[in-house]
Amino acid sequence: MEPAASPSAKFTEPPKLLETMVRRESYLDWNATAPLRPEAAAAVTAALRDCGNASSVHRWGRAARQRVENAREAVAVLIGADPEGVIFVSGGTEANQLALLGSGRERVLISAVEHSSVLQAAQHAERIPVSADGIVELGRLEELLASDPHSALVSVMLANNETGAIQPVAEVAAIAHRYGALFHCDAVQAAGKIPVDVATIGADLISLSAHKLGGPPGIGALIICGTIEVAPIIRGGGQERGRRAGSENLPGIAGFAAVADAARHGLADGRASTISLCTEPHLRHPGCLFHSAGDQPRPAGSAGQ
Ligand SMILES: Cc1ncc(COP(=O)(O)O)c(C=O)c1O
Repeated sequence: MEPAASPSAKFTEPPKLLETMVRRESYLDWNATAPLRPEAAAAVTAALRDCGNASSVHRWGRAARQRVENAREAVAVLIGADPEGVIFVSGGTEANQLALLGSGRERVLISAVEHSSVLQAAQHAERIPVSADGIVELGRLEELLASDPHSALVSVMLANNETGAIQPVAEVAAIAHRYGALFHCDAVQAAGKIPVDVATIGADLISLSAHKLGGPPGIGALIICGTIEVAPIIRGGGQERGRRAGSENLPGIAGFAAVADAARHGLADGRASTISLCTEPHLRHPGCLFHSAGDQPRPAGSAGQ
């Protein structure tokens, strides 16, 4: 007698030929992780073959240091930042934690729709409400800041990871600065997809993550814009000018630089674009509710329903 098939067997069987032919799959979850761009894959592979720690003083170490500094420049250029302000970290989560915990501000105000890495880093933070469209209420932010003289940090994302709603971050920065507060902007879902410019945003701190724009996972950056400083949350060696300890992730950094370059050129020639799902008739459905402002553009790859 044939042994009974285990319950899990049917899930591990290879798909039937016909099934494979009729089923077309598209990977749409780019806001979770975008597919690795070939430029990034090539740079990571090449860097894995290179030897050397960027902190070593010998020839190999100095070559590694040069590669880190070139990458810092490439990442800075993507958002018009000063390379000196780029701190390489392990991703968007760490960038957000470094901004919120390292700023040393007593009071923290965050929008109600921030990513969980911000929500968890500042569990006691005051929440700035958002409208039904998912846009932060600027009047409420102003009232909150005016109600308490303690030095504050305001954190509002640029593009939402679920709805793609783009926040009025330049206005948020102006209000924050009017009350002597620092402004941190989580630009993880925006950089490389829509133009992000430090001078236009006016933020003091900006978070980026490479795998959201087609780079490797496990690498990101906190960008300091201007003269403020952050206290390290990971201590050890003096890497990243004492702002983030740990030997640099050279393959990740190389991949981040390559994708920053590619994204910058893509933005310049219009290949990366914003879309307005609500205006695309084939996506209209009576059961669909759009949670971001009507015709407001959002980064390509965001659902918004
Ligand atoms: C808006 C936003 N911020 C931060 C993060 C965290 O980035 P990472 O996965 O690089 O830690 C994500 C990831 O989903 C995100 O969407």
